[in-house]
Amino acid sequence: MNKVTSILVATVAVVSLSGLALASGGKDTKKGEDLFKQHCMSCHADGGNIVNPQKTIGKEALKSRGITNWKGIVKSMRNPGPGMTKYDAKTIPDKDAKAIAEYVLKTFK
Ligand code: HEC
Repeated sequence: MNKVTSILVATVAVVSLSGLALASGGKDTKKGEDLFKQHCMSCHADGGNIVNPQKTIGKEALKSRGITNWKGIVKSMRNPGPGMTKYDAKTIPDKDAKAIAEYVLKTFK
């Protein structure tokens, strides 16, 4: 095998390995992440809150305000507090809302 070929083989191996790592994250997590980026990131990047810095959405912060599971987060989306966009089931169907909520709980501490 010449040098160019072995570099090529190594590159292909790395690329397919990272593809596997992504896939093992699960389809719903990836979907939740994409939807979060699309709808929520503008205000809640990194689980923060640029509109109201008191109301970050990390797991512990949410817990201190009585939100302990995905249902609580979906409820906030359907019926948000002041300064947050409202997301009804037409904008974000229940299934997608759940995926976003699970992503939030899993990702931000
Ligand atoms: C326009 C900015 C904005 C966007 C976009 C936004 N939020 Fe918020 N979010 C806020 C603000 C402001 C609050 C604090 C509201 C309050 O005082 O209860 C908040 C609060 C929350 C809370 C905590 C509610 C509580 O009672 O503690 C959760 C959970 C949340 N947002 C999730 C989301 C999700 C999920 C999305 C995307 C689907 C989203 N937010 C999009 C601004 C935003």
